[in-house]
Amino acid sequence: MLNWELAALTVIAARSSYAAPAVIGVGVGSSCTNVSFTNSWLIADCLTKADSSTHIQSSVYLNNKITNDDGTLKKVDGSFLGSCNTYSLGGAKLTCSCQRSAGYTLTSALNLKEHIANYAGRLLSDLSGPPAVPPTSSAALFPSDPSWPLRFGDIACYSPDSDFCSRYPFSNPGTCGVGPGTKPESCYAVREPLSGHVYRAFAQLQVGAPSKAWRVEAYGDLACTEKVGSVEGEEQGTCKKLGGRAVAVKTVPLWNADV
Ligand SMILES: *[C@@H]1O[C@H](CO)[C@@H](O)[C@H](O)[C@H]1NC(C)=O
Repeated sequence: MLNWELAALTVIAARSSYAAPAVIGVGVGSSCTNVSFTNSWLIADCLTKADSSTHIQSSVYLNNKITNDDGTLKKVDGSFLGSCNTYSLGGAKLTCSCQRSAGYTLTSALNLKEHIANYAGRLLSDLSGPPAVPPTSSAALFPSDPSWPLRFGDIACYSPDSDFCSRYPFSNPGTCGVGPGTKPESCYAVREPLSGHVYRAFAQLQVGAPSKAWRVEAYGDLACTEKVGSVEGEEQGTCKKLGGRAVAVKTVPLWNADV
C-alpha cells in the first residue's frame, strides 16, 4: 500500500512540475515486479495508480540509451550491446562486462532508476526529456520471439543519384529478404551494395514476425516521411501490395514500449 501511495504522489508531482529532473517517479524496484532484462529491453509489471493491485506490463529499449564509454556504462545515445556482454539485473542495477579499447574487459554497473521510472503503470525513460505518459496501454505482452524477418517483392533499384542504378540491376519482380531484425528501427533502408548510393525499392512487403508483435510501416523516401503502407497483425506472413514503391521501413512495437 505504501508503495502505491508513493507511486501516485510522485506521478502527480512529475506531471505538474517537471522542472526538476530528479523527480522521476518511483524506481523499478518498489512499484514494479517481474523485472527482467532481455534482448536489450527492460521489462516489468508496474502498478498503475488506479488501485493497489492493477499492473501493466511495459518495457524500455536500452540499447539506444546506454553506451559503452571505454568500459564504463554511460546513459547517453549509443549502443552498448555490441561491446558489452554478461548482463545481470539486480533490482534496478544493470551490471555488464564491457570491452575497453585497450582490449580487456571492465565490469560496470548502472542504476537504471536514475532515468527510468514507473509513470502511472508505464515504465518510461526521461533521457530525451520529461516523458509523456501514453494515454492508452496495450494488453499485448512482450513477445517471446521479437524478430521481424522481411521479404520484399516487385523489387527495383532506387538511388538518390539516379545514374548509380544502371550499374545495379535488380531482379523484377523477384523477391528477396532481410533480417531477421529484432530492434525498433526508426527508419531502415537496405543499401546495395553496402557502400553505394543504391537502395532496394519494393512494391510488396511480407513481414514474418512470429509473434505478430510489430507494425512495419513502409516509406517511399529515405527520411521516412512519405508512408506508402504498413503491415501488422494477421496481415503478417502474407505478401502485401503497398500503395507505392517503398525504400525504407519503420518497425513499431505493438506492446507497451518506450523506444
Ligand atoms: C508476474 O509474472 C507471472 C508469470 O508470468 C504472472 O502470472 C503475474 O501475474 C505477474 N505479476 C504481475 C503483478 O503482473
